[in-house]
Amino acid sequence: MPFLPPETSRGLSVFTDRTFIVTGGGSGIGRAVALALGEAGARVAVAGRTPERLEETVALLAKQGAEGLAVPTDVRDPAAVDALVDLTVRHFGSVDGLVNNAAGNFVAPGIDLSPNGWKAVIDIVLNGSFLCTRAVARQLRAQGTGGSILSVIATYAWHGHPGTVHSAAAKAGVLAMTRTLAVELAPLGIRLNCIAPGPTETEGAGAALWADDNARAQVLATVPAGRFADPAEVADASLFLLGDRASYLTGECLTLDGGQWLGKQIYGR
Ligand code: HXC
Repeated sequence: MPFLPPETSRGLSVFTDRTFIVTGGGSGIGRAVALALGEAGARVAVAGRTPERLEETVALLAKQGAEGLAVPTDVRDPAAVDALVDLTVRHFGSVDGLVNNAAGNFVAPGIDLSPNGWKAVIDIVLNGSFLCTRAVARQLRAQGTGGSILSVIATYAWHGHPGTVHSAAAKAGVLAMTRTLAVELAPLGIRLNCIAPGPTETEGAGAALWADDNARAQVLATVPAGRFADPAEVADASLFLLGDRASYLTGECLTLDGGQWLGKQIYGR
């Protein structure tokens, strides 16, 4: 794995000539990470279910002078995921990493959740992350280059959360997948890590988890920092985890939540 001396990179990882796939790259955290990667010199394939949103991200990348590729993809479909990686490699020549960001979520008491509601979220978050990780890891193995895979989870992967049993179970699965594959794939130079952002100012999470002012105020009251995260803050931390400056870091989860998780232990809310 290349390690660039400080005088070359001024303490930052270099992403020039690297190619990343970002799922859910048409909005929210996924778009912010895609744009940050582009700004740092990477080529970015954005995948998601809504082509127009992906094209918007590609246009924003182009404005920064970065190369992007929109690949409409449902991460629940193994053939579509394989096609995403194939298309990315045909377009850019190779792939160096993946951000598993695509997610689905809504608030419903577990006892009333329909089997299909459970399945929808598990399929997108857990199965989708596995399928994308598998496809990219196989490509990295074929290239013999190593690479870096980051999955976006949430602190309720370990403490659970009433109302989102499907998402909490799926994110816990992604964390276990990350730790398992970090060990399996380390000999190939492939690193896998997670990031657990707290409440972040995005349309998707807002609509799914704090749809009205009251719900939003309740969530905000649990964050000691007194504010939601900006997607750009999540993107900055993601770039650290994805880049060579984190070259010995694998199987870890970085929590970025304004103290929310620790606050819950101390204040009990
Ligand atoms: C109860 C619901 C429901 C709700 C959907 N369902 N919404 N049940 N309450 N609010 C049920 C449906 O009735 C159906 O079951 C099943 O879920 C599948 O619904 P579909 O709409 O057919 O599925 P689909 O079109 O695939 O949509 C998937 C989705 C949707 C997850 C339901 O919300 C989605 O695609 N969301 C993507 C964007 C998103 O949610 N982003 C937020 C991520 S934020 P039946 O039995 O009727 O067939 C996030 C942050 C976490 O994850 C961390 C925070 C700190």
